[in-house]
Amino acid sequence: MRSNQPQTIYLSEYQVPAYLVDHVDLRFELFEEGARVHSTLSVRRNPDSRAASAPLELDGDSLRLESVALDGAELSAADYEDRGDQLVIASVPEQFELSVVTWIEPQNNTRLEGLYKSSGMFCTQCEAEGFRCITFFPDRPDVMARFRTRIEADKASYPVLLSNGNDVDRGELEGGRHFVTWEDPFPKPCYLFALVAGDLVEKRDTFRTCSGRDIDLRMYVEPRNAEKCDHAMDSLKRSMSWDEEVYGREYDLDIFMIVAVDDFNMGAMENKGLNIFNSSCVLASQDTATDAAFQRIEAIVAHEYFHNWSGNRVTCRDWFQLSLKEGFTVFRDSQFSADMGSPTVKRIEDVTLLRTAQFAEDAGPMAHPVRPASYMEISNFYTLTIYEKGAEVVRMIHNLLGPEMFRKGSDLYFERHDGQAVTTDDFVRAMEDASGRDLTQFRLWYEQAGTPVLNVSDEFDAEQGVYRLNIAQHIPDTPGQSNKKPQHIPFALGLLGSRGEPLPLKLEAGEENAPAERVLELTEASHTFEFHGIGERPVPSLLRHFSAPVRVNYPWSREQLLFLMSHDPDGFNRWDAGQRLAVDVIQSLVGAPKDAAVEPRLVTSYRHLICDSSLDQALVAKMLQLPSEAYLIELADNADAPAIHRARERVLKHLAISLRDELVACYRRNLESGDYEITPEAIARRSLRNTALAWLLVINDEEGRELAVRQFRSADNMTDRMGALRALVNSDYEEDRNLALEEFYQQFREDPQVIEQWFSVQAASDRAGQLPQIHALLEHPAFDWKNPNKVRSVVGAFAGQNLSAFHNPDGSGYDFLAEQVCRLDDSNPQIAARLVTPLTRWRKFAPEYSEQMKAALERIRDKDGLSRDVYEVVHKSLAG
Ligand code: TRP
Ligand code: ZN
Repeated sequence: MRSNQPQTIYLSEYQVPAYLVDHVDLRFELFEEGARVHSTLSVRRNPDSRAASAPLELDGDSLRLESVALDGAELSAADYEDRGDQLVIASVPEQFELSVVTWIEPQNNTRLEGLYKSSGMFCTQCEAEGFRCITFFPDRPDVMARFRTRIEADKASYPVLLSNGNDVDRGELEGGRHFVTWEDPFPKPCYLFALVAGDLVEKRDTFRTCSGRDIDLRMYVEPRNAEKCDHAMDSLKRSMSWDEEVYGREYDLDIFMIVAVDDFNMGAMENKGLNIFNSSCVLASQDTATDAAFQRIEAIVAHEYFHNWSGNRVTCRDWFQLSLKEGFTVFRDSQFSADMGSPTVKRIEDVTLLRTAQFAEDAGPMAHPVRPASYMEISNFYTLTIYEKGAEVVRMIHNLLGPEMFRKGSDLYFERHDGQAVTTDDFVRAMEDASGRDLTQFRLWYEQAGTPVLNVSDEFDAEQGVYRLNIAQHIPDTPGQSNKKPQHIPFALGLLGSRGEPLPLKLEAGEENAPAERVLELTEASHTFEFHGIGERPVPSLLRHFSAPVRVNYPWSREQLLFLMSHDPDGFNRWDAGQRLAVDVIQSLVGAPKDAAVEPRLVTSYRHLICDSSLDQALVAKMLQLPSEAYLIELADNADAPAIHRARERVLKHLAISLRDELVACYRRNLESGDYEITPEAIARRSLRNTALAWLLVINDEEGRELAVRQFRSADNMTDRMGALRALVNSDYEEDRNLALEEFYQQFREDPQVIEQWFSVQAASDRAGQLPQIHALLEHPAFDWKNPNKVRSVVGAFAGQNLSAFHNPDGSGYDFLAEQVCRLDDSNPQIAARLVTPLTRWRKFAPEYSEQMKAALERIRDKDGLSRDVYEVVHKSLAG
């Protein structure tokens, strides 16, 4: 049982482990009614520990202890203490073998931590603290051991038995059972342990490494998914060669395995040599996966593969260092995706996520530094701050050092710390040592929470020909942190002349060959930069390619934004200017009278985007996406979500009505014949035609409706089918919507990944996803409370994307979410805690909303036997 008053763990209290484990010998007997786990640990006292005669303390959770033996001698109950969450042996020798037998019930494990069953197969998830649900062990990442694992199971039901490393032995057992033994030569923390047993088909391929070794690549999936492996396998091979080329990292075992499982709390897991994936993050076919899914799969396969070096070979000392592996690995996978497709589009996607969701987290009650100083439940710290802001911090180091020095730094880091469990500070030190740069002040990015705000003002001195830019930074207070120090911020910028020409940035009068783009380094609370030889007031292009994860305030006029949209040489900033303009226009209409005019220049600029086919179409496809409701809410104070929704709809409808003919032409121009491809160009074409379709249906255009129905019926890929379905679902054509939903369901009812998309397109729609319909989805036979993907696709999509319905002024959306969180809390606390997120933002909203949101949080708080996971989120949200 979890105690009701969870403890806080502090970084400052870190102590090296008192005992080390050199080797682990595991034997799993798998049965339908449970599993017996035999574990033998080779333990020795840690010479670096000052706790001389410390008791041996092993972590455990939900285990039934059957026996304990020390150096082969069975211990009696008086020799040890089973505290439930710890097995304590008061006195042990310097060095010994400890054998423990535990009994667990994977078939009843709904938390999906440790060993559990999913669609008839056994599988594991040990990060962060799941190994303690399998056997007693020092469950902390700085205890690294070599594992040998023997799995025994019924041969007919579980022909495939997998664990980390190489299979070294296999054979038959009595009663139709068999076994396989695996040995992993690399010492690893127990969070990287994995086991899979099931009736799976195997897909094989090979990869020849840079040193000429042939690696066996194997994917294991349920037989019905055999045809959905190619994309992941190709992505894996691309990742392997990219990591050799860009980071000099070669794969180190002879086998690399990927397994797909349907019930999984997160996206995927980098277990050594045996990556386990959420089915939705690995299985794809043209017919069932959208372009976005193809790209996400490529990125996640790469991410998990890259962890083999950034995470497994060099791992984390403790969980406060989580961003050491996650921030770095997200940076690596985003570089990879940029190289595989369009770098500007990838940057836009990353920044959209960061600004919409990470900035919101950083401004909310769960705000924490990239390297947190404390936590209650570590699962709650797999956050956008650790992952996405952590990646931005590594990106800034990359930009400050340049690619060559950064590579020297990463080489040094991998060489110096191979086989060790280290800290974010060790990472930064390797970068300093390799480059000779001092990153002392830069380290504040790891320690201070909150998104820095840059207030930028300027003046033009026509007489002197000097343009002055003042940049002041401040970092808002966050829970437990105030009066923060200025951070080291790389700030990329350019200045444009009146014809759009880039101006040379002379920091000294008379400077020659001055570059047209500079990266200024901000280190003080305020800086003034002078640019010389400027003949007229320039238009500043600030924070190019989003060179730091900060908010920039500058009083751009709409005229200037329109100018940047068409002239900025930085594609990212062209997009950003368009977003700022659209935000400004929508914001000005929130709460405005119904007949208030929509900025006519917005229409003109969008017309230009739609009609000028000489523009980069991938960028245009992004520029046509209006800022999301979630982003508009993030930017607002006292937010009124339904009012923001109406203002955004207003602009969308106005654009669609004004550009109706252009949209039809755009749709037709981007209709393609020929084979389906997933190149940036083809993706852009599909995105453009589906945007055109969506806009036409928002205004009930009859031709749009016909095009949508036709596309829905004739599509040869999921992007187009889903594009048409989404457009119909979000339209007033109720009959077509219901028909399409029904047809789609009948066609794909056997495919859980597609049905998840079917659920979420409805739950996220203000037309098809009002509360009574959401309740109906929860009653649908395809819905399953035990499957996190289903919960996310209905409850998560409703509360996270269908914002006008969730923020219904009558409070019904909040009540609904509170109820679902409470119901999930007993079965899967990790998922329950994540679902709470929308409510934690209650302070952001106008009082009529925030009071009801707070009341919903209080109802969750008062539930009996609340998990530690939900306890932490709810209590921190209500505090202060
Ligand atoms: N390390 C995983 C990653 O690649 C994250 C992860 C997967 C995870 N499953 C989890 C974290 C379960 C906590 C709980 O990012
Ligand atoms: Zn990761």
